[in-house]
Amino acid sequence: MPLKNKIEELKKRKEEVLQGGGEQAVAKQVAMGKLTARERIIALLDEDSFNEYDMFVEHDARDFGMDGKVLHGDGVIIGTGTIFGAPVAIYAQDFTVAGGSLGSMHARKITKIMDYALRMRIPLIGINDSGGARIQEGVNSLAGYGEIFWRNTLSSGIIPQISVILGPCAGGAVYSPALTDFVFVVDKISKMFITGPEVIKSVLGEEISQEDLGGAKVHAQITGNAHFYAESEYECFEQIKKLITYIPWNNTRKARRFEPKEPKVNFNIEDIVPGDPKEPYDVRDVIRAIADDSDFFEIQEKWAANIVIGFGRLNGETVGFVANQPLVMAGVLDVDSSDKAARFVRYCDAFNIPLVTLVDLPGYLPGIDQEHAGVIRHGAKLLYAYSEATVPKMTVILRKAYGGGYIAMSSRHLRADFVFAWPSAEIAVMGPEGAANIIFRKEISEAPDPEAMRRQKVEEYKEKFANPYVAAAKGYIDTVIEPAETRKLLLHALEVSSTKVADRPFKKHGIPPF
Ligand code: HXC
Repeated sequence: MPLKNKIEELKKRKEEVLQGGGEQAVAKQVAMGKLTARERIIALLDEDSFNEYDMFVEHDARDFGMDGKVLHGDGVIIGTGTIFGAPVAIYAQDFTVAGGSLGSMHARKITKIMDYALRMRIPLIGINDSGGARIQEGVNSLAGYGEIFWRNTLSSGIIPQISVILGPCAGGAVYSPALTDFVFVVDKISKMFITGPEVIKSVLGEEISQEDLGGAKVHAQITGNAHFYAESEYECFEQIKKLITYIPWNNTRKARRFEPKEPKVNFNIEDIVPGDPKEPYDVRDVIRAIADDSDFFEIQEKWAANIVIGFGRLNGETVGFVANQPLVMAGVLDVDSSDKAARFVRYCDAFNIPLVTLVDLPGYLPGIDQEHAGVIRHGAKLLYAYSEATVPKMTVILRKAYGGGYIAMSSRHLRADFVFAWPSAEIAVMGPEGAANIIFRKEISEAPDPEAMRRQKVEEYKEKFANPYVAAAKGYIDTVIEPAETRKLLLHALEVSSTKVADRPFKKHGIPPF
């Protein structure tokens, strides 16, 4: 056969595979408000940058009517491409082909692209839209999931791993996204749960819809399983693209450097934090007053909102911001906020992203619920993460830094490289009211006017400890600065610490509190 004819045949074969699960299945996908797997890849990657592999792979199942059944690409598309010129490996499950269910060849395609991403040290993006383990393939599909989880773990901390949930992701399948770094969900499209509504009803008699059980809002606000929430698939792809600009390709590199930009003038740092330590404010405005172009890319915005985490840039370089949020529960640390911040600190440390910590908190949240929910071990995660992190660590104490919260929020004692405090900083074991009530209990109760005595003792305590100068006298903070100096000092600190060396004794790995 002449080459020309062979090329024609190749084109024909490709055309066939591009049909996915066929017209009807595609129409059903569209009716559900979803893009097809191929449309998703095209929308996410740079124009014409996608190269597909294993297009002609077919399943090898023979039982339960599978013999001779054609499943194009076995329900998953894999390949490589670029996002703003940065290389990425990608897979997208095709729900139009057998519900994107995962059989052995489907899994082999995914693990192939995962191996490729790890070998080339480039980010991996997985688009999940699947009915889960392919029932007809039995243990082979379970084996496939196991192989994926193993690779997720192997790649963790070496290449960024991003999961996008654009359809069902149920049963054990949810554990791949859970093992990756960032999970993206889209309103009314994403569904994630270990056991669905039917199983819950038959086992427990409880009734709930898929959406209320594991929809996008649930994972963005209640469970914390999702890091980014979007209203539409296109908005989600914009978020992924933006994330890619902040993170490096792998753990041996730094994130791409951008042109430095001054913060916008409408964020005047001196006007944001109220003098009264009990008055709330939005700490994100402080971040915007410090970061290049006032740009702050927040992560897990709606979950554990008493702590704020996300990326920004200083002098063009990516930094990770961690900040107590006085607007929500006075910025206390609790089970969820400790988990949220600790994981982010470990991410930044793994990927060479310096940390900027802004401190204003009354401490750990007291209460029976918190104690019984394990605030001891959850709170310990944050201490562990900051202690373990060797990236440059810059801390700015804005206002309150009380008790365990002072230590946990990247204090000098956990080896912060630079600790700056504003004149409004109050560094003490606890707030003046609580402290005076305890240590002057006898004097207060025996005084002719106990209330007047209590006020006097509170003032005495405030004068002595509710300031940054006691800590400054011990060298626990490096310098007391004016708020307007913050950015300048952080830029300098970042520059000075670009060649930081932080040796640690050898160990196979630590055992962080889980
Ligand atoms: C084989 C599957 C499938 C599966 C869907 N399909 N899920 N085929 N194995 N797991 C097929 C359907 O038979 C159908 O094929 C096509 O995909 C589209 O499915 P529909 O049911 O028509 O779509 P929809 O109504 O949108 O419902 C989607 C769904 C439902 C909610 C996901 O299909 C469903 O409940 N599927 C089963 C989910 C499940 O129990 N999976 C196993 C979980 S256990 P045709 O030919 O009719 O178009 C698991 C263990 C993993 O995953 C453990 C790892 C450690």
